[in-house]
Amino acid sequence: MDASFLSLLQCPQTKKDLRFFQDQLVSQDNKNKYPIWDQVPWVFPEPDHFAFYWQNKKNEFLNFHKIGAQNIGVELKSGKNLSSLTVSRLELLKKAHETNFQNLSTILKSLDQRGDAGYEVTIPSHQSLHIYRKNIFRDWGWETKENKISVDLITEVLGVNWTPARFCVLGAGASRLAMDLHKEFRLPLTVAVDFNPLLLMVADKMLKGERLFLYDFSAAAVEIESVVKLYELKSPLGPMQNFYLLCADVTDLPFKPYQFQSVLTPWLIDILPFNFRLLAQRVNQMLEIGGDWINFGPMGFSHQEEAFNLTRPEVHEQMRECGFELEIEKVSQMKYLSADDEVNSRNETVYVFKAKKIETVAVDGFSYLPSWLTDMNQAIPLSEALKQHQQLIRFHADLFHSINGHVSVNQIAHLFSSHYKLPVETARSMALSVLRQYEESLKRK
Ligand SMILES: C[S@@+](CC[C@H](N)C(=O)[O-])C[C@H]1O[C@@H](n2cnc3c(N)ncnc32)[C@H](O)[C@@H]1O
Repeated sequence: MDASFLSLLQCPQTKKDLRFFQDQLVSQDNKNKYPIWDQVPWVFPEPDHFAFYWQNKKNEFLNFHKIGAQNIGVELKSGKNLSSLTVSRLELLKKAHETNFQNLSTILKSLDQRGDAGYEVTIPSHQSLHIYRKNIFRDWGWETKENKISVDLITEVLGVNWTPARFCVLGAGASRLAMDLHKEFRLPLTVAVDFNPLLLMVADKMLKGERLFLYDFSAAAVEIESVVKLYELKSPLGPMQNFYLLCADVTDLPFKPYQFQSVLTPWLIDILPFNFRLLAQRVNQMLEIGGDWINFGPMGFSHQEEAFNLTRPEVHEQMRECGFELEIEKVSQMKYLSADDEVNSRNETVYVFKAKKIETVAVDGFSYLPSWLTDMNQAIPLSEALKQHQQLIRFHADLFHSINGHVSVNQIAHLFSSHYKLPVETARSMALSVLRQYEESLKRK
């Protein structure tokens, strides 16, 4: 493992140096060990728990393709009167599921190493392995101008003479942008951080000049041939020195303080589970004084707490409070995840800024989960929201349990009307709405 990369890292538990020993990173007291899979170090406070989380997600993802292929196999064999065109479309889909199952199993092989169950993992459960699969195709498969447009937009803000000694990209995904900038500006050292192993494993293969084959599924194909398309993923960038991938959580980064001269947050600020201020503090802690924070991406914040869904002037305000001085900014329109045959590409307004760190600020802690979810001996608070949820769940449970093959909706409505002290009409419309949703859900993909 490269010494200059290793020297940036610290043990998330002891906050001291890490050393490379027997294919892993180890804390000085030998107590904490961090695996290196496909040359990507996994430096989380509890790497085993993170591995366990992603192994489950891997099984979910592979099952999606396995079961997809099986179900189509059943449809093909069902003896239904399928036209030869429909048979050929189903066969294409089946092959695509089978190929992706095989190829993804190979790409994700190192995730087979065992992790231990742990419940305090900070990854939001909607973060699946495939949530950003389109980004993989955009980065390494599609014919698209989007990657070049992104570099050009950022270059307008950086200027052509930008050459930080140490550059870090947070939420780098499959890492095309990070690699493009590393190459374009001939950077001496770049670290690309993400917590999604699939994206990093693909990035690792691209870095090594390997080729991968994956099918992309169209959400709204017009022609049979465009239902699925096989892409060869490969890097056009050639060999790359001093570019490092790191599997870590932006919430709790394993870097020694003030190691970087530049940090980029591409399409990240609005999708994190914590607010902008907490991110700004963490970026501040990564940078040396005079270092710059570059942002690129939309302002699609979606926090439940409206106060956190910032606009540009509020971002300025918080940036200043977190030790940054805005140097230059630009608002631009661009297509996101765009390719000629991509039906789901989006038009986005992106906010690009460069801000200089002028002072160091304290970093507030962040806990994603409430303490009663991580300390299982703590009482679970009974909030108003939870009480409402209980009522809803009770209604659903009673409704589905009352179905025994003999009762009708009208009989259930009368039963519930007297049980819940509701007018019969209200009980009927509640029961109908739940049962309709259930029936409809069976018909959708
Ligand atoms: C919207 S995607 C953008 C990816 C990439 N920057 C791009 O433009 O294609 C957000 C990325 O942030 C990563 N991410 C989200 N939360 C993270 C966290 N707490 N720590 C590390 N990576 C995170 C996701 O895995 C994903 O790759």
